[in-house]
Amino acid sequence: MGLATCRLAALFALMAMGLVACGEDPTPPALAAGSNDGRVVAVEQLEPVPGLRLRPLTDHVFERSDARRERGRYLAEGILQCAICHSDRDWSRPGAPPVAGKELAGHVWKQEGDTVLVAPNLTSDDETGIGRWSDDMLARAIREGVSHDGRPLHPQMWYPSFAMLSDEDLASVIVYLRSLDPIRNPLPRTRLPDEVLASFAGRPAPITDPVHGPIDDSPLERGRYLANIGDCGGCHTLWESERLPGAFSGGNAVTRDGKRIFSTNITPHATGMAYNEQAFITIMRSGKQGMTNPVMPWVAFRNLTSDDLAAIHAFLQSRHPVSHRVSNLAEPSLCAVCGLEHGLGSLNIAEKPVAANVSNVLLREYEGTYRIERYDWTVRIVLEHGSLHAHTEGEPVRALIPVTDKLFLVDGGLGPVRFTRDKDGKIDGLVSIDVDDTRLARIDD
Ligand code: HEC
Ligand code: HEC
Repeated sequence: MGLATCRLAALFALMAMGLVACGEDPTPPALAAGSNDGRVVAVEQLEPVPGLRLRPLTDHVFERSDARRERGRYLAEGILQCAICHSDRDWSRPGAPPVAGKELAGHVWKQEGDTVLVAPNLTSDDETGIGRWSDDMLARAIREGVSHDGRPLHPQMWYPSFAMLSDEDLASVIVYLRSLDPIRNPLPRTRLPDEVLASFAGRPAPITDPVHGPIDDSPLERGRYLANIGDCGGCHTLWESERLPGAFSGGNAVTRDGKRIFSTNITPHATGMAYNEQAFITIMRSGKQGMTNPVMPWVAFRNLTSDDLAAIHAFLQSRHPVSHRVSNLAEPSLCAVCGLEHGLGSLNIAEKPVAANVSNVLLREYEGTYRIERYDWTVRIVLEHGSLHAHTEGEPVRALIPVTDKLFLVDGGLGPVRFTRDKDGKIDGLVSIDVDDTRLARIDD
């Protein structure tokens, strides 16, 4: 085999079998351990798509344990919704659970023209499942968005949220998947047009540093972690509109198996989630006695412990309240808050909040450029016509309306921002309070 093949093959595995010798160098015996419970794994790697950052695969094997398997089951069948997306669903049953006996055996999301999108069979079948993939192929796919054979994954696989999974929880999910009985289920493979694939190439990001779970054991921090990895904010936030109503305030159209439903407002506001912890837990468990549309994956969330559901409630209560009525039970009508049409839209009124008085001297201090590398997100704060404005590439300029002298609403943006100071009192960052509290560091002087 030539050098090119060496580069394109999952080297560790082929070398372990002694099948490949690159150039004149003999195979280092250190690579001899197989990757899937001692079995040798060999998957041809595709030619990398230009711009794709991918980390080389390792032959790491996560230690199997009962504790990990049970934790993995809890996560995969619950907050992470793996079984919801990687199974055909039975839409005739409340909440549309996975078809019995075919849990995690894969699901065809789309088959249309030259686009095929398939959430593959995650059971351990050798031919049609993950039986021949290594642990690290799975780990890299789940958190870093690169398929077992080196292609950028379609973002319908929620790897940007799963990137926040702690190392231990990732290990648990993989140990659980390995414990599943094989289900033979031949499905087509994902095939995406070149330009679509190219548009996804810049998104996957290798993870090389340790990822820890919640920063402490408080309900707020555990809830933040769970809401992040479960991507509540992904579905419950309208991301694209001239005027964004704000994180978690709903209005985003979600499509599943041909059904199109608007997500609702779950911010702590009278028009959103005004109910207490106990009512929240009941709704998450029962989907309002089956009334909640199954597009809301409550059949997965009902598997969460009361403690974890209470933690998610505590985190959602810490979000910025937004006035935005959304319902799937009324005919769509134009909404003044988000500018789109959805049920109860015509009842919404766009209110201009009253600005607090903040001195120009202070506003000047906040001017500057702020950035977070991880999301490739840069915001320039500029004082114009007597008030601060946020300039972000590809987005309309948005006015900052002071609530206090530190906290500002972002008119038509995802959520308020707060400025932070270093120990010398100099402005050193900006925290965007949206689906999480995201800190952008000041990058100019
Ligand atoms: C919202 C739906 C959704 C959820 C939730 C989801 N997946 Fe996926 N997953 C997909 C889709 C769709 C694909 C196919 C993407 C592609 O081929 O580009 C995929 C691809 C994958 C792949 C990559 C397969 C390959 O070709 O290498 C793995 C592994 C995977 N998912 C595991 C998981 C696990 C484990 C979970 C739970 C932690 C999970 N997924 C949750 C939709 C989902
Ligand atoms: C796949 C998209 C999706 C995800 C992920 C999702 N939701 Fe939902 N959710 C919806 C949709 C759509 C509705 C509206 C259903 C309806 O109107 O029948 C909804 C409704 C709800 C409701 C009921 C609101 C009400 O009063 O009617 C609550 C509560 C809720 N979601 C909380 C959450 C939480 C918490 C999470 C994360 C753990 C979450 N959702 C994740 C799509 C999603």
